Amino acid sequence: MLTIHSSPLQGFTDFRFRNAFQQYFGGIDQYIAPYIRVNGKLEIKPGNERDILPANNRSLDLIPQIITKDADEFLFVAKFVQKLGYSELNWNLGCPYPMIAKKGMGSGLLSMPEKIDEILTMICGETDIQISVKMRLGYESSQEIFHVLPVLEKYRLSNITIHPRIGKQLYKGEVDLKAFDECLRQTSHKIFYNGDITSIQNFREMKERFPSINNWMIGRGLIADPFLPAMIKADNPVYPKNRYEVFNSFHDALFSSYEEALSGRKHLLMKMYSFWEFFIQSFPLSSKYLKKIKKAQNLSVYIEVVKQIIYNESVNSAPRFP
Ligand SMILES: Cc1cc2nc3c(=O)[nH]c(=O)nc-3n(C[C@H](O)[C@H](O)[C@H](O)COP(=O)(O)O)c2cc1C
Repeated sequence: MLTIHSSPLQGFTDFRFRNAFQQYFGGIDQYIAPYIRVNGKLEIKPGNERDILPANNRSLDLIPQIITKDADEFLFVAKFVQKLGYSELNWNLGCPYPMIAKKGMGSGLLSMPEKIDEILTMICGETDIQISVKMRLGYESSQEIFHVLPVLEKYRLSNITIHPRIGKQLYKGEVDLKAFDECLRQTSHKIFYNGDITSIQNFREMKERFPSINNWMIGRGLIADPFLPAMIKADNPVYPKNRYEVFNSFHDALFSSYEEALSGRKHLLMKMYSFWEFFIQSFPLSSKYLKKIKKAQNLSVYIEVVKQIIYNESVNSAPRFP
């Protein structure tokens, strides 16, 4: 069965976003929470705890994620999430940001397969939590993964998500589909594909190229076009008739949820602007309005610009047919 997974985006896909998304769009089988980083202190930050509390995620299936290069930290977080009722923890071996990677975490750990081996041996010996891995091809080189996959082969993992870029690329350049294909040959684990799925057309091309892949993880693409997961699941490229009303209601729910949580209009406006940098991709006739959102100094101006964008698009866009 084809499943769609929401890829974690720190600063975007928190429980407020997930709940609003789930209510208005759906199409997601499972969400991965943005990573928990404990930083040696063996303490969970209140924001991380709030994000994964079952009470804040009632309507969705969530997997917490950890970023670490330390087995004790891993165990500590594993026990913490187990106590909350989770049976799986995802290990981030993909984060490309130099501040993380240079410390040997995220994609920075991919050049140290023996360290990955050591951590997994200890974890698997001391906890029965299921582990899944989300990784890139490497940090410096796309060959690194071919030394990591044989190590992962020794352990019982729920799945491995591969984003076929190297850390040094950040999000630039192409995904390396040839290397991804080679990875499929080098592992017996269940592989999820992640990277640059932004439309139903490009999903169909990917599905055709990798027919054995049933699990697809989407990050930026589902913020830019929140209808995408449901359209992929229905294999239907036509937007619902009430597309803009649905988006409007989703936007208002997201706005209210952050209004409740953030202190002051400045923070709220900045938060909403960061979402609009993605949303605007679904409003091609209104790209010039993004600047107006950036410049908005008060909430009434912001709300007026959003109204204009949605009105403009709903009146002027031609219906889309396959
Ligand atoms: C702003 C931002 C924050 C991210 N935060 C995380 C994170 O917390 N954990 C993680 O595994 N990946 C994180 N990612 C990577 C995404 O989950 C995803 O792997 C990447 O964007 C590629 O998929 P996409 O092309 O579908 O977006 C982040 C990416 C971005 C752009």
